[in-house]
Amino acid sequence: MNFHILTLFPDMVMNGLNTSITGRAIEAGILSVEAVNIRDYANNKHLKVDDYPYGGGAGMLMQAEPVYGAYEAVAKHIQKKRETEGQVQSQKIRVVYLTPQGATFTQRMAEEYAQEEDLILLCGHYEGIDERVLEEIVTDYVSIGDYVLTGGELPAMVMIDAISRLVPGVLSNEVSAEFESFQDDLLEYPQYSRPEEWHGKKVPEVLLSGHHANIDRWRREQSLIRTRERRPDLLK
Ligand code: ADE
Repeated sequence: MNFHILTLFPDMVMNGLNTSITGRAIEAGILSVEAVNIRDYANNKHLKVDDYPYGGGAGMLMQAEPVYGAYEAVAKHIQKKRETEGQVQSQKIRVVYLTPQGATFTQRMAEEYAQEEDLILLCGHYEGIDERVLEEIVTDYVSIGDYVLTGGELPAMVMIDAISRLVPGVLSNEVSAEFESFQDDLLEYPQYSRPEEWHGKKVPEVLLSGHHANIDRWRREQSLIRTRERRPDLLK
């Protein structure tokens, strides 16, 4: 899967994603992450990409043209690649704009995005982006939660992390994405490793029994108990 991030801070996203599991997947060629610097598409010699909002108000806005230029460069590249691979040209390229005004990101959305071959993520800064370019290029408005961050870079990284681990081959252990929190809208059961006793606390007997049906039943019960305690909203 290929992620294309349109941003004013390419180093921020690349440094974060080049480490750990995503970094390994990039190295293995399972994922690619490209950060496109919106400033490279500024159409003035000072490389300015922001300006005052019409009508007044606090802060600056990112201007339409540099954002559009960065998008166009990436979109053309994707179209050309699809052409050489003989794919259907009509297939829409999804462009996600990270914004507190978007739909709240969920595991289900991560599963859906993981089916895409290419995903463009647009990161805003300052007080936002000129509405006209959003109307032209954005297909999905996504928020990572009801709080306001200084930019879309961290939300883009959050999305890429959650999506990547669902792409086949990214997690070394294929089953590890299989049963986990939010599967069937339940939280994951508690887990234990060695030693059998730590700080006077023993590992639940059933997990040492080797009786797989009993273990499965216990885990299912624990998932329900945990979800009821910590996230009762998921049971509704
Ligand atoms: N940009 C600023 N805050 C954000 C949030 N909560 N989610 C997505 N993008 C954002």
